[in-house]
Amino acid sequence: MNVRLHTTDPRIHASPLLVLPVYEGGEGAGELAGSLDEHFGGAVARAWASGDARGRTGESVVVYRAEDKGPGPRRLMLLGAGKREKLDAEQVRRFVGRAVRAAERLGVARLMVRVEDASGLGEERLAQAAAEGAMLAMWSFRELKSSIGRDDEAQPETPVEEVEVSAEGDAGRLEAGLRVGLAVARGQNLARTLQSRPGNQATPSHLAEEAARVAAEVGLECRILGPAEIREERMSALLAVNQGSDQEPRVIVLEHRKGKPGEPPLALVGKGLTFDAGGISIKPAQNMEDMKFDMSGGASVIGAMRAIAELELPVNVVGVIPSTENLLSGKAMKPGDVIRTRSGKTVEVINTDAEGRLILCDALDYARTTFSPAAMVDIATLTGSVVIALGSHAAAVLGNDQALIQELLGAGDSAGERCWQLPLWEEYKRQLRSPVADLSNVGGRPAGSITAAYFLSEFAGDTRWAHLDIAGTAYGAEPLPYQRKGGYGFPTRLLVEWVRSRAG
Ligand code: BES
Ligand code: MN
Ligand code: ZN
Repeated sequence: MNVRLHTTDPRIHASPLLVLPVYEGGEGAGELAGSLDEHFGGAVARAWASGDARGRTGESVVVYRAEDKGPGPRRLMLLGAGKREKLDAEQVRRFVGRAVRAAERLGVARLMVRVEDASGLGEERLAQAAAEGAMLAMWSFRELKSSIGRDDEAQPETPVEEVEVSAEGDAGRLEAGLRVGLAVARGQNLARTLQSRPGNQATPSHLAEEAARVAAEVGLECRILGPAEIREERMSALLAVNQGSDQEPRVIVLEHRKGKPGEPPLALVGKGLTFDAGGISIKPAQNMEDMKFDMSGGASVIGAMRAIAELELPVNVVGVIPSTENLLSGKAMKPGDVIRTRSGKTVEVINTDAEGRLILCDALDYARTTFSPAAMVDIATLTGSVVIALGSHAAAVLGNDQALIQELLGAGDSAGERCWQLPLWEEYKRQLRSPVADLSNVGGRPAGSITAAYFLSEFAGDTRWAHLDIAGTAYGAEPLPYQRKGGYGFPTRLLVEWVRSRAG
């Protein structure tokens, strides 16, 4: 997979496919397309006149060069990019994603795509978005297919191998943006690969090995806690969830130390539940296979840490990923069991399927007391309730510090991974009362995402903390043009964007 920048004239570049944007309400196919018309024997003008593609998002026509007239593209695609003034970074990502999908359908492995700064994004943001769109769109999960047929839904028969991004402007700034976009997308694609692996492969120890491998590759410090260290750390809530599983638990700790020595780090804490059957409070069989995605928060933290390291961001960041399966056996935790968490607070387990908050409460307490972070963000496929509240178009964000929440909302908007705030009022606390312990692990059906977050807030202490519930956004079957069915790597881009904004 390769993305290159091209700042010279795309018209004289020999490419199997050149994709040019056309805008809704535009006068013609655009200057570049118009000047190519002669090479295409008038086909561009005829295509425009046909009205088959007049710029509406996703509309496209392809024209072919009749005879050889010197160097130039073999095919030209006019691809609708919507309204010119609405072309923000996310529209650029989607536009480039659509160009890659078009190349897949045509069976060409290389293409050039023209992107324009129509809305004042700036060269760096334009190139970053284009690089992200290209790299994310090119990714596919092929490692478990022994052959790929013509009509394979999930994988293209001919994967695109190279995208040349054609853009006008300062080459230095374009290259800088491209470099950021490539690092971010590599991190996000790593997260998608880890998400895609089934539960029998992506076990806690596998996640830990992958994290260690990536750490060595990009220069992160990595420490893995196994059962003995986890016991020593008194992370009993994580151990309680792990009781029903034959797979050992892990806590993955990744450290990026490129800020001032001694400066408190940012902490990213990701739920790494490699398969959630619900435990004794077992889930229904329908769609249970999706619960391999219950480690999506952890995957996005590994992906974001990879990007942060590759970009050598001048800031201290730690990633913490508690990882286990949630299964059933004669040893599994039971409804009614009471756990003494690492913090000392006791929790009555009313529903063993509310396990995410159990492994996270120990991980948050561990991160807080071990690293004294300046701010702590956890990312988790925590509740089905958030899917009811927000669907698949936004994650929920909640926390104890409005400035931090505002930063995350902003980072999500610029990264095209949106969040929406839900309240965390004290009034919700009474739903978590237990007659025998400090807290119950469930708060009933009303406001399920809020009570889950409230539970976590009890373990953040006075550390600045926010929580992203990504159960509706981490994976899905209705992908954007640069996504595929399955894991989306959400919110890797948001996390890197937030850390970049903190790095100044
Ligand atoms: N991993 C699930 C949440 C989830 C649901 C993720 C749907 C992705 C899609 C979590 O561990 C869970 O089971 N939550 C329960 C909590 C309930 C028992 C209070 C839920 O949301 O049903
Ligand atoms: Mn569960
Ligand atoms: Zn879960």
